[in-house]
Amino acid sequence: MSLTLIRPDDWHVHLRDEAMLRAVLPDTARRFARAIVMPNLKSPVRTVAEARAYRDRILAARPAGSAFEPLMTLYLTDNTPVTEIERARASGFVHAVKYYPAGATTHSDFGVTSLERCDDALAAMEAVGVPLLVHGEVTDPAVDVFDREAVFIDRILQRVVARFPRLKIVLEHVTTRDGVEFVAAAPATVAATLTAHHLLLNRNAMFQGGIRPHAYCLPVLKRERHREALMAAATSGSPKFFLGTDSAPHARRTKEAACGCAGLYTAHAGIELYAEAFKAAGVLERLEGFASLHGPAFYGLAANRERITLIDDSWPVPDEIDLASAGIADTLVPFRAGGRVGFRIADTGV
Ligand code: NCD
Ligand code: ZN
Repeated sequence: MSLTLIRPDDWHVHLRDEAMLRAVLPDTARRFARAIVMPNLKSPVRTVAEARAYRDRILAARPAGSAFEPLMTLYLTDNTPVTEIERARASGFVHAVKYYPAGATTHSDFGVTSLERCDDALAAMEAVGVPLLVHGEVTDPAVDVFDREAVFIDRILQRVVARFPRLKIVLEHVTTRDGVEFVAAAPATVAATLTAHHLLLNRNAMFQGGIRPHAYCLPVLKRERHREALMAAATSGSPKFFLGTDSAPHARRTKEAACGCAGLYTAHAGIELYAEAFKAAGVLERLEGFASLHGPAFYGLAANRERITLIDDSWPVPDEIDLASAGIADTLVPFRAGGRVGFRIADTGV
């Protein structure tokens, strides 16, 4: 059995930089025509000039013959000036601004301390039509890790949606029933991305027979009733929900550590894993809307013209991916390492 669909886009990915960028980009470029590239480099991408330089590095790292298009984002800070938002809009290659609460996740030290400080920037984004991408977790240490998304919606997101009614907002990598219910009930300006790993796993995966650092990401995996709500949202056909892998590579030694990094690497099976999830729900025919149509419609972009074919046929995932050839003396442990993925992509020669 096979399924042909419009070539998908990834609306949330971490491509990193330098050696890691060269190691991971081919996986994303093979599957996706475009991707919204997260700006949380060690020194975050805060200006259009930095986004242009990063975009050039990504284009230079593309495999030969690839037409992959990186859609760049800026990293919002307490001090992002209105002029930078206007410059972003005029650039033609910056497509969104990303909000990380300070300290919420990998490389978020420069993040926003209080979103009220950014009201001028948000007003400018609303006025010129630049979407706000939200890492929706509070960082208050008094809030339980598993409740941080729901509390974020109550304390922060609701105010932003009410105050900026024309601002496009994406609640990135939504992980809870509370999150999908909020997005579903919100105005059409509010959407959400969903990762494959949050569709396929619940939090038990982090503790299967011991502590599993390769199942640790942020927002952290949640309990089964939340996973079920995410699956229902993804497969509902609602244009508010679309694909964002949040593939976030970290070298093995930085994950298998006393304080391991958050992030799962899924780009090697970036569309195939979603096909598994949609097949499990019995609605494979809805994958194209979720993966290839809803995202471009929200961002005001045309859908891709090319098509890809997914074949319902499993393949073995390696135990680890070599990084030495890219110049990193370590390996990358991919999602489902040592196991199998249930769909494969027909070779397109790219
Ligand atoms: C991401 C990363 O490593 O950059 N990690 C993750 O667990 N998803 C950051 C993020 O998106 O929170
Ligand atoms: Zn992310």
